[in-house]
Amino acid sequence: MGDAAAVLISGGLVAFPTETVYGLGADACNEVAVARIYSVKGRPADHPLIVHVASMDALGDWAADVPAYAIALARDYWPGPMTLVVRRSNLAADFITGGQDTVGVRVPNHPVALGLLEAFTKAGGKGVAAPSANRFGNVSPTTAQAVSDELSDYLGMGDVILDGGACAVGVESTIIDCTGEVPKILRPGAVTVAMIEESTGLVVSDGKIAKKNEIRVSGSLDSHYSPQATVVLDQSPEAGQGFIAMADVATPDGVVRLAAPQTHEEFARVLYSSLRAADEKGLATVVVIRPQGEGIVIAIYDRLERAAYRSAES
Ligand code: TXA
Ligand code: MG
Repeated sequence: MGDAAAVLISGGLVAFPTETVYGLGADACNEVAVARIYSVKGRPADHPLIVHVASMDALGDWAADVPAYAIALARDYWPGPMTLVVRRSNLAADFITGGQDTVGVRVPNHPVALGLLEAFTKAGGKGVAAPSANRFGNVSPTTAQAVSDELSDYLGMGDVILDGGACAVGVESTIIDCTGEVPKILRPGAVTVAMIEESTGLVVSDGKIAKKNEIRVSGSLDSHYSPQATVVLDQSPEAGQGFIAMADVATPDGVVRLAAPQTHEEFARVLYSSLRAADEKGLATVVVIRPQGEGIVIAIYDRLERAAYRSAES
């Protein structure tokens, strides 16, 4: 992992696996390297980036003021699929936070990510800024192949894609705003409301997603996470259309079954790769029957509503 850490230290980009999705990493203290993330992704420059660190010990480097409930969350769920938004320290420059006075920090739970972050820290690095390793607005990649399909035309000679297999969670981390009296979910994920309340002893604030323009979470744009195919929710599929539903839902004749997960966790894990498979097969439409429930299902609904939004508009 030393080679990849050296690439980061020298200002290159390293795409790496996490348990949620693959990230596109750069040294979070190097403005030029971070600027390349934005150009490779084609992402607007005022969207803030999550800083990835090797352990919660580094939270103090990036944060100015961490409430007790955020420490409880970090203890319970890091390394894990959770990003804490806290007041920033001077280390968190405007080019990371999009000029906001807060910064998002996460310790990912994946051996390759942790190995990279540890080697990077040993080499003197403070944190790795990493958005999901997709072009802006597209479905996040959950395999190294998907990263390569998304970004290889845009990456440079010295940049690296690390292969750590398929991501175990499959949807992006839960983002929790920790700047108020109580935690507030900005983006739902595998760390659920019940888990946050259990850890903090507090009631999570209303409004699962911050209102548009209130705070810049690009995943909170109405249309995001979209494949080329039109995504249609909760309808009967027709012959020739792609189909994603729980295993107990039968496949009608002539329909192209893309996934038949047995559990909600498996649904989240295979969702993005199944949407990509629809594009690879050149399908015009994918019908998704959403599972019923709580927990990770909230994150599945969130992503699918955005994936379907563009379709509903056009
Ligand atoms: O699971 C994940 O979180 C993945 C992996 C790679 O860690 N990363 C990820 O990054 O999903 P990205 O940039 O695709 O999405 C992070 C979201 C963005 O929508 C960004 O606007 C929001 O987090 N964000 C980052 N810092 C923030 C802050 N200070 N305040 C509010 N939102 C923030
Ligand atoms: Mg993203």
